[in-house]
This record gives sequence, C-alpha cells and structure tokens, in this order.
Amino acid sequence: MYYSDEVIEEVRSKNDIVDVISGYVRLQKKGRDYFGLCPFHNEKSPSFSVSRQKQMYYCFGCGAGGNVFTFLMEYENYSFAEALKFLADRAGVELPRQEFSREAKERADTRAVLLEINKLAAQYYYVQLKNVQGEHALSYLKNRELSDDTIRAFGLGYSNKYSDDLYRYLKSRGYQTDMISKAGLISVDEKQSVYDKFWNRVMFPIMDVNSRVIGFGGRVMGDGKPKYLNSPETMIFDKSRNLYGLNRARSSKKPYFLLCEGYMDVISLHQAGFTNAVASLGTALTPGHASLIKRYVKEVYLTYDSDGAGTKAALRAVPILKEAGITARVIRMEPYKDPDEFIKNLGAEAFEERIGKARNGFMFALEILEQDYDLRSPEGKTDFMREAARRLTEFEEEIERNNYIEAVAQAYHVGYEDLRKLVVREAVRTGLASPVQRPKSGSVRSEGKKDGIATSQKILLTWLIEDESIFRQIEPYISPEDFSEGLLRTVAGLVYEQYGTGEVNPAKIMNHFTDEEEHREAASLFHTKIRELTTQREQEKALKETIIRVKSHSIDEAARNLAPSDMAGLQRLMNAKRELQDIQKLHISVN
Ligand code: CTP
Ligand code: MN
Repeated sequence: MYYSDEVIEEVRSKNDIVDVISGYVRLQKKGRDYFGLCPFHNEKSPSFSVSRQKQMYYCFGCGAGGNVFTFLMEYENYSFAEALKFLADRAGVELPRQEFSREAKERADTRAVLLEINKLAAQYYYVQLKNVQGEHALSYLKNRELSDDTIRAFGLGYSNKYSDDLYRYLKSRGYQTDMISKAGLISVDEKQSVYDKFWNRVMFPIMDVNSRVIGFGGRVMGDGKPKYLNSPETMIFDKSRNLYGLNRARSSKKPYFLLCEGYMDVISLHQAGFTNAVASLGTALTPGHASLIKRYVKEVYLTYDSDGAGTKAALRAVPILKEAGITARVIRMEPYKDPDEFIKNLGAEAFEERIGKARNGFMFALEILEQDYDLRSPEGKTDFMREAARRLTEFEEEIERNNYIEAVAQAYHVGYEDLRKLVVREAVRTGLASPVQRPKSGSVRSEGKKDGIATSQKILLTWLIEDESIFRQIEPYISPEDFSEGLLRTVAGLVYEQYGTGEVNPAKIMNHFTDEEEHREAASLFHTKIRELTTQREQEKALKETIIRVKSHSIDEAARNLAPSDMAGLQRLMNAKRELQDIQKLHISVN
C-alpha cells in the first residue's frame, strides 16, 4: 500500500458517491436513496441503489455493491490506486508523491512511456494503411469483407516494407531506443543495428480493457510463415491476463461472452453484431483469463475452431472456466473452420441459431469421448458408460450430479437408476466416496459446511452494519473473534471498532482493502443477500439462527484447538457455552 489511511479517507469523503455515480448512471431520488438502471447487468427497471447517507451503492438485481472506489474499479476496471488517483484529481486532493517507493514510481513511469509508444505505433500503422503504401493491405482487409467502420473501430493498420520505418518515426518523436525496445517493437542485433519487429504485415493492435494499446499481432498477407507475429510479453503486455476484444465486449449487454480463438474471429463477430466476442491471445485459456471474464459474465460460449486442435482447446477450457464458476457451452462451427468463415458463408442469423443449439461443456466432452469407443458393441458401450459415470462422480453437488446423470441417461438411452448406481460404484471404486454413508472428516461434506458457515458470518455482518439496534443486542454475545480468521474477522473487527467510536461507516471500512481481489470480496460482505423474509417474525427467527450458528461454530473451533493444559482457554470456552445458552433464550428484535 502506497497511501496512508488518512489520505484514502480524505479522497473518499471528498467524493460524494451520488455525485460520482451520477456521472455514469441516471439516478432518481426515491425516499432517502437514489435509484437507476444497473450499469453492471442488463435490466429494464431500476434495481441499482445509491445511498448518500451510507456512501455505498448496491444492486438488488445482480448483487454488485461497494463504495465509491469499488464503483470505479468495477465500472472503469481501475486498480485501487487508479481509482484513488482519479478521485483525488476530481476532488482536487493532492496525493503525496513521496509515498510511492522509488522503484514503484520508476515502474509506473516506464509503463506510462510504453503505453505512449504503443499508442503512437498504432496510430502510425493506421496512417500507413490509409496511404498509398498500404493499398495492398487495405485491399487484403476489404477482401476479407471488413468495413471501414470495423477497420477504424479495431484500429487495424499496416507495417510497411522498410526495415526501420517505425523505429525512425518513434525516435523522431523523442523516444529512446531502450524504451522502444522495452515496448517490444524493435530488435537490436549484435552490430547494434535496429530493425522493426513487424514488416509488411496487417496489424491488429491489442488493447487492454480500458482500450489502451498494449501490444500487436501482425498477419502476413498470404501464406507466409509465421502467419501471425505477436509482440513479446512486456511490462504492459501479459497475454494470460488480457483478452482481445474485451475493451468492446465489456459494454455489450449480453449476459455471456463468445470466446473464440482468433483476432479475425472476434472482428467478424463484432461486425456481424455479436459485440460480446473475445479471444485469448494466441495462447491457451488460463485461470487468469477465466477470473478476468468472471468480472463481466458468468457464462461463456466457446466458439473454437472445428479442427482437432480447436476441439482439444475447448476440452481444456471447459474445466478452467468451471473452476472459476463460469458455465461453459460449446458452439460447433461445422462444416466451417471458425466463426469468421461461418459468418461469411451462412450469416449472422445462422450463427445465432448455433448459439441456441450450443451444447453444455460436459455433454460436449462426452460426445468427443464417444469417438474412442465402439458404441454399437455391448462391451464398447459398457466401457463408455463406465467412463461417463467416473466423470459424473466429479460433480460434488448432489443436485447438479443428479441433473447430469439424468441428461446422460437420456442422451445415451440408459436407465436413470442404472446409471446412478454405476456412478455410486465408480465413486467407491475410485475412492471418492466411502461405502459408509456418513463420512466423518476431510470429506466433501465438511467443505460444504465451511462455505455454509462463511455465508452465515457474512449475513451476520450485513445485519450488524445495517442496524445499530441489532448490534447493541448482539454485542454482548458475539465478538470479532467469533468470525473466521482472515477477511471476515478483519471486517468484523473494524465494524466493532466503528461502533466503539460511535460512527459506523461501511464505506470507510472498504478503504482498508486496497488489493483488488480483497476489495471486491470485502464489498460483497456488506451486501450478502438476506433471503427475502417477509415478516418481522421470520427475520427475527433467521437472525437468531444465524447468531447461534456463528457462535456454535466458533465454540467448536475453539474446542478443537484447545490444548489440554490450557486452563484459561477452557474457562473461556465454558463462558462461551454459557453465552450460547443465553442466546438461545434471547429475544432479538428487528425493526
Ligand atoms: N496465432 C498466433 N501465431 C500464429 C498462429 C496463430 O499467435 N503463428 C494466434 C492468433 O491470435 C490467431 C489465433 O492464434 O488469431 C488463431 O489462429 P488461426 O486460426 O490460425 O488464425 P485466424 O485467427 O483464423 O486468422 P485467419 O482467419 O487470418 O487465418
Ligand atoms: Mn480464420
């Protein structure tokens, strides 16, 4: 962290959340709060609320929420530091410079220069494409049926035939050779001769999510090798954390992305109206890509090439997406090679139909698996079903697993019960489940329980922040130590501290978390959905159950970690148990 809490809080308090968000969303006052259409999901009636009093926003539709920093991090995809800087500028707060360490400052400066260089290079290539030297390249793109608008929107360009034209241009604009080299645009040989990296290629600028050029892909016009040449990874270009087309796809209102393999696929799809298409940058999909995607959508349709390599890539991508909590479906392009060719031949409507027919990732994997078995012979089919059953054991959640068993049984014409039994047998055989039904520890079930307790703690925190009278009632029984170590306990500690000073301010608590991932997680804590409980009675009952669950869990944990000789610990435990009994007798009132 480069900035002190005081500075961060000064910036936050000088940027009223209603004013800031009004710059992006049309807000209307209703009662104490402001409402508008949520910018983070597609909706027709406003469920996005902003509270001036709490200086927080929250969407009842999609659950997005946080303080003014969170909003900019989500909306502009800023890092915490970038959001801070933006808001400091907005409010005229001067951020203390010396708080940057020297290296951090140098890195930031270099990155800024590399971004400038890449931007200039993109402009240069674009101009080249449009002048006489670029005629050939322009007609190549026209032949591929790209419109002028598309070419402009994606900033396509041309690197000409001279071996150091770009280099000389960038030098003339005052940039040092070592910086141009760090930007990955030139190579320097032993004799210190400098060459442009890209010659006589159609240029595809690669932009980050904020439309800043971070690198290039260059395609030969014709059959030369390599077909594409890409910028090397640099300080600003990390292939595993960027997606081609994301800068445009992020503002598409579709709830899913089309994930394809190539630059041309993305461009064709956008041109055909599918503005939610993105591609990984000539590399396999990584967990980094998946978590990037997860910020925008929860569902991905893979439209990889229809050849063997594309199929393999899709099979590998499905579990990576699933791991990140993204549902994957697979669109087949047959008889065409890729989306670009498909659209050219059959058009957008036919593609839309394919989206409708996309197969779920698991079923797709089974279909590919079929090719290894002879399903017409009884042995072949048995072996196949056994492997399918083994794969079905990998669904940890029972409902999900049963749904898939049903789908597979139907698709392969076997009885549901037969298949279910086979799945159980496979689970036992491969050691995933023990024949005894109630596993004692270390099992999937205790994992589920852990999630459950985290949810209870989150709900309790939401309640504590929402309502001071609830805090006062609960305070004697629940302390921050009853929350699980880590984020939850830290936040609980801060909430208790704030009640101690008489000023409860969730927006200020959020300041504490400057790491992007942590900030997002913390933001979610304040808005855990408390199930739509209608009556006050129901709410009170649920609240009490939540408190009891949190306290019992905390006691269990303490008991497990108690050393036999720790008398003081034992005494604390006894007190806690008594408190638990008191809670059970307690009447908690909710307004
Ligand atoms: N790619 C690459 N280097 C190569 C070949 C491919 O980086 N030598 C990456 C590019 O990002 C390319 C993607 O892999 O867009 C898919 O490759 P391919 O299917 O061969 O190319 P297309 O995108 O379909 O391009 P085109 O339609 O122009 O052939
Ligand atoms: Mn192609």
